Amino acid sequence: MKRFIVTGGYGFIGSNLIKLLLKKNFKVFNIDKLSYSAQKYNLRGVKSKNYFFKKVDINNKKAIIKILRKYKPHGIFNLAADTHVDRSINDSSNFIKNNILGVYNLLEAIKNYDKKIRLIHVSTDEVYGDILGSKRSSENFPYTPSSPYSASKASSDHLVNAYVRTHKIDAVISNCSNNYGPRQFPEKLIPKMIYNILNNKPLPIYSKGKNLREWIYVNDHCDALIKLFFKGRSGEKYNIGSGINCSNIFLVKKILKSFTDRRIKIGKKVKIIFVKDRPGHDFRYALNSNKIKKKLKWKPKINLNRGISKTVDWYIKNQKYFKKLNEKNFSYWW
Ligand SMILES: NC(=O)c1ccc[n+]([C@@H]2O[C@H](COP(=O)([O-])OP(=O)(O)OC[C@H]3O[C@@H](n4cnc5c(N)ncnc54)[C@H](O)[C@@H]3O)[C@@H](O)[C@H]2O)c1
Repeated sequence: MKRFIVTGGYGFIGSNLIKLLLKKNFKVFNIDKLSYSAQKYNLRGVKSKNYFFKKVDINNKKAIIKILRKYKPHGIFNLAADTHVDRSINDSSNFIKNNILGVYNLLEAIKNYDKKIRLIHVSTDEVYGDILGSKRSSENFPYTPSSPYSASKASSDHLVNAYVRTHKIDAVISNCSNNYGPRQFPEKLIPKMIYNILNNKPLPIYSKGKNLREWIYVNDHCDALIKLFFKGRSGEKYNIGSGINCSNIFLVKKILKSFTDRRIKIGKKVKIIFVKDRPGHDFRYALNSNKIKKKLKWKPKINLNRGISKTVDWYIKNQKYFKKLNEKNFSYWW
Protein backbone atom coordinates (compact mmCIF):
# COMPACT_ATOMS: atom_id res chain seq x y z
CA MET A 1 0.00 0.00 0.00
CA LYS A 2 1.43 3.39 -1.03
CA ARG A 3 2.20 5.92 1.71
CA PHE A 4 1.86 9.60 0.96
CA ILE A 5 2.62 12.84 2.73
CA VAL A 6 0.28 15.72 1.94
CA THR A 7 1.57 19.11 3.07
CA GLY A 8 -1.06 21.78 3.68
CA GLY A 9 -3.64 19.03 4.21
CA TYR A 10 -6.03 21.12 6.29
CA GLY A 11 -6.33 23.67 3.48
CA PHE A 12 -8.82 23.65 0.62
CA ILE A 13 -7.19 21.42 -2.03
CA GLY A 14 -5.13 19.43 0.50
CA SER A 15 -8.21 18.31 2.46
CA ASN A 16 -10.07 17.29 -0.71
CA LEU A 17 -6.98 15.38 -1.87
CA ILE A 18 -6.63 13.59 1.48
CA LYS A 19 -10.27 12.46 1.33
CA LEU A 20 -9.72 11.10 -2.17
CA LEU A 21 -6.47 9.31 -1.25
CA LEU A 22 -8.10 7.67 1.78
CA LYS A 23 -11.07 6.63 -0.35
CA LYS A 24 -8.58 4.88 -2.63
CA ASN A 25 -7.14 3.10 0.43
CA PHE A 26 -3.77 4.85 0.49
CA LYS A 27 -2.00 5.85 3.70
CA VAL A 28 -1.78 9.59 4.28
CA PHE A 29 0.35 11.70 6.61
CA ASN A 30 -0.92 15.27 6.77
CA ILE A 31 1.67 17.94 7.60
CA ASP A 32 0.22 21.38 8.18
CA LYS A 33 1.38 24.32 10.24
CA LEU A 34 -2.29 25.33 10.70
CA SER A 35 -2.19 28.89 9.40
CA TYR A 36 -5.32 31.09 9.13
CA SER A 37 -6.65 29.22 6.03
CA ALA A 38 -6.29 25.73 7.57
CA GLN A 39 -9.60 24.42 8.90
CA LYS A 40 -9.90 21.40 11.18
CA TYR A 41 -13.54 21.27 10.01
CA ASN A 42 -12.25 20.27 6.55
CA LEU A 43 -11.26 16.80 7.80
CA ARG A 44 -13.77 16.34 10.58
CA GLY A 45 -14.95 12.76 10.91
CA VAL A 46 -11.82 11.35 9.23
CA LYS A 47 -10.97 8.52 11.59
CA SER A 48 -9.21 6.11 9.27
CA LYS A 49 -6.33 4.03 10.65
CA ASN A 50 -4.55 5.07 7.44
CA TYR A 51 -4.56 8.76 8.40
CA PHE A 52 -1.97 10.62 10.50
CA PHE A 53 -1.52 14.29 11.24
CA LYS A 54 1.27 16.36 12.72
CA LYS A 55 1.38 20.11 13.12
CA VAL A 56 4.67 20.93 11.43
CA ASP A 57 5.99 23.82 9.36
CA ILE A 58 7.62 22.65 6.10
CA ASN A 59 10.44 25.05 7.00
CA ASN A 60 11.34 22.82 9.94
CA LYS A 61 13.91 20.55 8.30
CA LYS A 62 14.66 18.49 11.39
CA ALA A 63 10.98 17.67 11.89
CA ILE A 64 10.47 16.89 8.19
CA ILE A 65 13.46 14.51 8.07
CA LYS A 66 12.21 12.80 11.23
CA ILE A 67 8.82 12.19 9.58
CA LEU A 68 10.47 10.93 6.35
CA ARG A 69 12.62 8.53 8.37
CA LYS A 70 9.72 7.18 10.42
CA TYR A 71 6.97 7.13 7.81
CA LYS A 72 9.04 6.27 4.70
CA PRO A 73 6.64 7.81 2.18
CA HIS A 74 6.55 6.85 -1.50
CA GLY A 75 5.43 10.33 -2.42
CA ILE A 76 4.88 13.88 -1.17
CA PHE A 77 2.12 16.12 -2.51
CA ASN A 78 3.21 19.63 -1.65
CA LEU A 79 0.24 21.94 -1.17
CA ALA A 80 1.55 23.95 1.77
CA ALA A 81 1.63 27.58 0.70
CA ASP A 82 0.32 31.06 1.22
CA THR A 83 -2.18 31.49 -1.58
CA HIS A 84 -4.07 34.79 -1.51
CA VAL A 85 -2.84 37.31 -4.10
CA ASP A 86 -4.23 40.33 -2.19
CA ARG A 87 -2.36 39.32 0.94
CA SER A 88 0.85 38.93 -1.08
CA ILE A 89 0.46 42.52 -2.30
CA ASN A 90 -0.10 43.78 1.23
CA ASP A 91 2.85 41.86 2.71
CA SER A 92 4.95 39.36 0.77
CA SER A 93 7.07 38.02 3.62
CA ASN A 94 5.02 34.87 4.33
CA PHE A 95 4.96 34.08 0.61
CA ILE A 96 8.75 34.17 0.40
CA LYS A 97 9.06 32.10 3.57
CA ASN A 98 6.44 29.42 2.92
CA ASN A 99 6.34 29.23 -0.88
CA ILE A 100 10.05 29.57 -1.66
CA LEU A 101 12.08 28.73 1.45
CA GLY A 102 9.57 26.04 2.47
CA VAL A 103 9.95 24.30 -0.90
CA TYR A 104 13.74 24.65 -0.73
CA ASN A 105 13.60 22.97 2.66
CA LEU A 106 11.47 20.07 1.38
CA LEU A 107 13.85 19.60 -1.56
CA GLU A 108 16.86 19.53 0.77
CA ALA A 109 15.11 17.03 3.04
CA ILE A 110 14.36 14.74 0.08
CA LYS A 111 17.90 15.15 -1.29
CA ASN A 112 19.46 14.28 2.05
CA TYR A 113 17.08 11.51 3.06
CA ASP A 114 15.94 9.58 -0.02
CA LYS A 115 15.94 10.82 -3.62
CA LYS A 116 13.51 8.08 -4.61
CA ILE A 117 10.61 9.82 -2.83
CA ARG A 118 8.51 11.34 -5.62
CA LEU A 119 7.55 15.00 -5.08
CA ILE A 120 4.38 16.30 -6.71
CA HIS A 121 4.82 20.03 -6.45
CA VAL A 122 1.51 21.85 -6.83
CA SER A 123 1.86 25.12 -8.69
CA THR A 124 -0.49 27.44 -10.54
CA ASP A 125 -1.42 28.84 -13.96
CA GLU A 126 -0.63 32.30 -12.57
CA VAL A 127 3.10 31.73 -13.20
CA TYR A 128 2.46 32.35 -16.93
CA GLY A 129 1.10 35.85 -16.21
CA ASP A 130 -1.55 37.60 -18.29
CA ILE A 131 -2.57 35.54 -21.35
CA LEU A 132 -4.31 38.00 -23.62
CA GLY A 133 -6.35 37.45 -26.78
CA SER A 134 -7.44 33.91 -27.43
CA LYS A 135 -4.09 32.22 -26.70
CA ARG A 136 -3.78 29.45 -24.14
CA SER A 137 -0.47 28.85 -22.33
CA SER A 138 1.12 25.46 -22.89
CA GLU A 139 3.86 24.03 -20.67
CA ASN A 140 6.63 25.67 -22.69
CA PHE A 141 5.28 29.21 -22.27
CA PRO A 142 7.70 31.56 -20.48
CA TYR A 143 7.09 32.41 -16.82
CA THR A 144 6.03 36.06 -16.42
CA PRO A 145 4.39 36.23 -12.98
CA SER A 146 2.69 39.50 -12.03
CA SER A 147 2.04 39.31 -8.28
CA PRO A 148 4.34 38.47 -5.37
CA TYR A 149 2.19 35.32 -4.95
CA SER A 150 2.71 34.08 -8.51
CA ALA A 151 6.40 35.12 -8.41
CA SER A 152 6.87 33.02 -5.27
CA LYS A 153 5.22 30.02 -6.98
CA ALA A 154 7.37 30.54 -10.10
CA SER A 155 10.51 30.65 -7.93
CA SER A 156 9.59 27.36 -6.28
CA ASP A 157 8.97 25.73 -9.69
CA HIS A 158 12.46 26.79 -10.80
CA LEU A 159 13.96 25.36 -7.60
CA VAL A 160 12.18 22.04 -8.15
CA ASN A 161 13.45 21.86 -11.75
CA ALA A 162 17.00 22.68 -10.63
CA TYR A 163 16.95 19.91 -7.98
CA VAL A 164 15.72 17.38 -10.53
CA ARG A 165 18.47 18.29 -12.96
CA THR A 166 21.35 18.81 -10.55
CA HIS A 167 20.57 16.47 -7.66
CA LYS A 168 18.52 13.89 -9.60
CA ILE A 169 15.55 13.99 -7.25
CA ASP A 170 12.24 12.66 -8.59
CA ALA A 171 9.70 15.47 -8.99
CA VAL A 172 6.76 16.49 -11.16
CA ILE A 173 5.18 19.97 -11.26
CA SER A 174 1.48 20.68 -11.82
CA ASN A 175 0.30 24.08 -13.03
CA CYS A 176 -3.41 24.20 -12.32
CA SER A 177 -6.04 26.85 -12.97
CA ASN A 178 -8.49 28.33 -10.43
CA ASN A 179 -10.03 25.62 -8.25
CA TYR A 180 -13.46 25.76 -6.67
CA GLY A 181 -15.51 23.36 -4.57
CA PRO A 182 -16.20 22.44 -0.94
CA ARG A 183 -13.86 23.52 1.90
CA GLN A 184 -12.36 26.64 0.29
CA PHE A 185 -11.58 29.51 2.65
CA PRO A 186 -13.96 32.44 1.98
CA GLU A 187 -11.24 34.97 1.15
CA LYS A 188 -11.52 33.52 -2.40
CA LEU A 189 -14.21 34.60 -4.87
CA ILE A 190 -16.71 31.71 -4.90
CA PRO A 191 -17.00 30.92 -1.16
CA LYS A 192 -16.87 34.66 -0.42
CA MET A 193 -19.93 35.24 -2.62
CA ILE A 194 -21.74 32.27 -1.08
CA TYR A 195 -20.95 33.52 2.43
CA ASN A 196 -22.20 37.02 1.59
CA ILE A 197 -25.41 35.71 0.00
CA LEU A 198 -26.11 33.57 3.06
CA ASN A 199 -25.41 36.54 5.35
CA ASN A 200 -27.28 39.27 3.45
CA LYS A 201 -24.17 41.22 2.46
CA PRO A 202 -23.21 43.00 -0.81
CA LEU A 203 -21.21 41.09 -3.45
CA PRO A 204 -18.03 43.04 -4.18
CA ILE A 205 -16.33 42.40 -7.54
CA TYR A 206 -13.09 43.93 -8.74
CA SER A 207 -13.31 46.55 -11.49
CA LYS A 208 -16.23 45.66 -13.80
CA GLY A 209 -15.91 41.91 -13.23
CA LYS A 210 -14.64 41.23 -16.74
CA ASN A 211 -11.43 39.41 -15.76
CA LEU A 212 -11.39 35.89 -17.16
CA ARG A 213 -10.40 32.80 -15.21
CA GLU A 214 -10.41 29.10 -16.04
CA TRP A 215 -12.35 27.23 -13.34
CA ILE A 216 -11.79 23.59 -12.40
CA TYR A 217 -13.68 21.56 -9.81
CA VAL A 218 -11.30 20.61 -7.01
CA ASN A 219 -11.86 16.84 -7.32
CA ASP A 220 -10.84 16.93 -10.98
CA HIS A 221 -7.58 18.61 -9.92
CA CYS A 222 -7.01 16.03 -7.16
CA ASP A 223 -7.62 13.20 -9.63
CA ALA A 224 -4.98 14.69 -11.91
CA LEU A 225 -2.47 15.00 -9.06
CA ILE A 226 -2.81 11.29 -8.27
CA LYS A 227 -2.31 10.52 -11.98
CA LEU A 228 0.86 12.63 -11.92
CA PHE A 229 2.22 10.55 -9.06
CA PHE A 230 1.68 7.26 -10.89
CA LYS A 231 2.24 8.26 -14.50
CA GLY A 232 3.87 11.69 -14.71
CA ARG A 233 7.43 11.92 -16.02
CA SER A 234 10.05 13.12 -13.60
CA GLY A 235 11.37 16.60 -14.36
CA GLU A 236 8.27 17.49 -16.39
CA LYS A 237 5.44 19.89 -15.77
CA TYR A 238 1.77 19.43 -16.61
CA ASN A 239 -0.96 22.03 -17.03
CA ILE A 240 -4.27 21.06 -15.43
CA GLY A 241 -7.32 22.99 -16.57
CA SER A 242 -10.96 22.50 -17.49
CA GLY A 243 -10.81 24.60 -20.65
CA ILE A 244 -13.79 26.58 -19.24
CA ASN A 245 -13.08 30.30 -19.06
CA CYS A 246 -15.61 32.75 -17.73
CA SER A 247 -15.69 36.27 -16.36
CA ASN A 248 -16.08 36.94 -12.66
CA ILE A 249 -19.41 38.70 -13.21
CA PHE A 250 -20.77 35.72 -15.18
CA LEU A 251 -19.71 33.42 -12.35
CA VAL A 252 -21.24 35.53 -9.58
CA LYS A 253 -24.54 35.72 -11.49
CA LYS A 254 -24.43 31.93 -11.86
CA ILE A 255 -23.97 31.54 -8.09
CA LEU A 256 -26.90 33.89 -7.44
CA LYS A 257 -29.04 31.88 -9.85
CA SER A 258 -28.09 28.71 -8.03
CA PHE A 259 -29.70 30.20 -4.89
CA THR A 260 -32.85 31.43 -6.65
CA ASP A 261 -33.21 28.02 -8.38
CA ARG A 262 -33.30 26.49 -4.89
CA ARG A 263 -36.00 29.06 -3.94
CA ILE A 264 -33.74 30.44 -1.23
CA LYS A 265 -34.77 33.98 -0.27
CA ILE A 266 -32.08 36.50 -1.12
CA GLY A 267 -31.66 39.38 1.36
CA LYS A 268 -32.10 43.02 0.30
CA LYS A 269 -28.44 43.89 0.82
CA VAL A 270 -27.26 41.17 -1.58
CA LYS A 271 -26.29 43.25 -4.61
CA ILE A 272 -23.30 43.18 -6.94
CA ILE A 273 -21.03 46.18 -6.25
CA PHE A 274 -17.90 47.04 -8.19
CA VAL A 275 -14.80 47.84 -6.14
CA LYS A 276 -11.42 49.38 -7.04
CA ASP A 277 -9.23 46.91 -8.90
CA ARG A 278 -6.14 45.50 -7.20
CA PRO A 279 -2.71 46.57 -8.50
CA GLY A 280 -1.16 44.39 -11.21
CA HIS A 281 -4.38 42.38 -11.64
CA ASP A 282 -3.97 39.93 -14.55
CA PHE A 283 -6.88 40.10 -16.96
CA ARG A 284 -6.90 36.54 -18.24
CA TYR A 285 -5.43 33.11 -17.52
CA ALA A 286 -6.06 30.25 -19.92
CA LEU A 287 -4.26 26.91 -20.06
CA ASN A 288 -3.65 24.48 -22.86
CA SER A 289 -3.98 21.14 -21.01
CA ASN A 290 -3.52 18.84 -24.01
CA LYS A 291 -0.36 17.26 -22.58
CA ILE A 292 -2.00 15.67 -19.52
CA LYS A 293 -5.06 14.74 -21.59
CA LYS A 294 -3.05 13.00 -24.31
CA LYS A 295 -0.15 11.53 -22.36
CA LEU A 296 -1.85 10.60 -19.08
CA LYS A 297 -5.41 10.13 -20.37
CA TRP A 298 -6.82 12.54 -17.75
CA LYS A 299 -9.84 14.68 -18.37
CA PRO A 300 -12.07 16.77 -16.10
CA LYS A 301 -15.39 15.15 -15.21
CA ILE A 302 -17.40 17.93 -13.56
CA ASN A 303 -18.77 20.75 -15.71
CA LEU A 304 -19.25 24.27 -14.35
CA ASN A 305 -23.02 24.03 -13.75
CA ARG A 306 -22.72 20.79 -11.83
CA GLY A 307 -19.64 21.96 -9.95
CA ILE A 308 -21.22 25.23 -8.83
CA SER A 309 -24.36 23.38 -7.78
CA LYS A 310 -22.33 20.85 -5.72
CA THR A 311 -20.33 23.69 -4.16
CA VAL A 312 -23.39 25.77 -3.21
CA ASP A 313 -25.03 22.63 -1.75
CA TRP A 314 -21.96 21.90 0.37
CA TYR A 315 -21.79 25.40 1.86
CA ILE A 316 -25.54 25.45 2.54
CA LYS A 317 -25.32 22.09 4.32
CA ASN A 318 -22.12 23.03 6.16
CA GLN A 319 -22.86 26.48 7.49
CA LYS A 320 -21.09 25.36 10.67
CA TYR A 321 -17.91 25.69 8.61
CA PHE A 322 -18.43 29.46 8.39
CA LYS A 323 -19.34 29.67 12.09
CA LYS A 324 -15.94 28.23 13.01
CA LEU A 325 -14.09 30.99 11.11
CA ASN A 326 -12.90 34.34 12.34
CA GLU A 327 -14.56 36.83 9.99
CA LYS A 328 -11.63 39.23 10.44
CA ASN A 329 -9.50 36.78 8.45
CA PHE A 330 -11.51 37.22 5.28
CA SER A 331 -13.73 40.33 5.49
CA TYR A 332 -10.75 42.71 5.44
CA TRP A 333 -9.90 42.11 1.80
CA TRP A 334 -13.09 43.42 0.24
N1 LIG B 1 -6.88 27.36 -4.89
C1 LIG B 1 -6.57 27.44 -6.17
O1 LIG B 1 -7.38 27.88 -7.00
C2 LIG B 1 -5.22 26.95 -6.66
C3 LIG B 1 -4.99 26.83 -8.03
C4 LIG B 1 -3.75 26.34 -8.48
C5 LIG B 1 -2.78 26.00 -7.55
N2 LIG B 1 -3.01 26.16 -6.22
C6 LIG B 1 -1.94 25.76 -5.28
O2 LIG B 1 -2.43 24.69 -4.49
C7 LIG B 1 -1.85 24.73 -3.19
C8 LIG B 1 -2.95 24.68 -2.14
O3 LIG B 1 -3.83 25.79 -2.30
P1 LIG B 1 -5.16 25.95 -1.43
O4 LIG B 1 -6.08 26.77 -2.23
O5 LIG B 1 -5.58 24.64 -0.93
O6 LIG B 1 -4.60 26.83 -0.23
P2 LIG B 1 -5.11 27.01 1.26
O7 LIG B 1 -4.70 28.37 1.68
O8 LIG B 1 -6.54 26.62 1.40
O9 LIG B 1 -4.26 25.93 2.07
C9 LIG B 1 -2.89 26.06 2.29
C10 LIG B 1 -2.52 25.18 3.48
O10 LIG B 1 -1.10 25.19 3.61
C11 LIG B 1 -0.77 25.30 5.00
N3 LIG B 1 0.57 25.89 5.09
C12 LIG B 1 0.95 27.12 4.65
N4 LIG B 1 2.27 27.29 4.88
C13 LIG B 1 2.72 26.16 5.48
C14 LIG B 1 3.98 25.74 5.96
N5 LIG B 1 5.05 26.54 5.91
N6 LIG B 1 4.09 24.51 6.51
C15 LIG B 1 3.00 23.68 6.61
N7 LIG B 1 1.78 24.04 6.17
C16 LIG B 1 1.63 25.27 5.62
C17 LIG B 1 -1.87 26.17 5.57
O11 LIG B 1 -1.97 26.05 6.99
C18 LIG B 1 -3.10 25.66 4.82
O12 LIG B 1 -3.69 24.58 5.49
C19 LIG B 1 -1.00 26.01 -3.15
O13 LIG B 1 0.33 25.66 -3.40
C20 LIG B 1 -1.54 26.85 -4.30
O14 LIG B 1 -0.56 27.69 -4.83
C21 LIG B 1 -4.21 26.62 -5.74
